[in-house]
Amino acid sequence: MIETTQARLTDLLGAAREARELAYAPYSGFAVGAAVLTGDGRIVAGANVENASYPLSVCAERTAIQRAVTEDGSREVVAVAVVSSSGAETWPCGGCRQVIHEFGPAATIVTENADGLPVTRELPDLLPEAFGPGDLPT
Ligand code: THU
Repeated sequence: MIETTQARLTDLLGAAREARELAYAPYSGFAVGAAVLTGDGRIVAGANVENASYPLSVCAERTAIQRAVTEDGSREVVAVAVVSSSGAETWPCGGCRQVIHEFGPAATIVTENADGLPVTRELPDLLPEAFGPGDLPT
């Protein structure tokens, strides 16, 4: 597995900022970009894609993970960056924490604060006692 260096997290935040430009968020006006660092060191990004049928909207983190899995063949998430148009720290919603857990139970999550500086947390701290693949009968 690759190392999650500060430089990689800076790259990851840059990719998330770039993806945020492609957000489709006409209903909330809340643009989000996310980027996933995969186990083999690749970066795959995504943005939120809303829908006129509101509940069908998809978060940026999930767009990025679906892409990493199906376009990149990745099965391992090492880190996830999230940035929004709010100008404040943006942490993954509960549903996205669960989706990240599937491929990255120990993932580092990074966002940026109001000064544009990186702030990190570890997924187990954001989603304690998580339910995952290991809880299912084999
Ligand atoms: N959103 C994300 O993309 N990621 C999050 O972690 C929080 C929320 C999106 C969903 C919706 O398009 C908009 O932000 C407002 O909730």
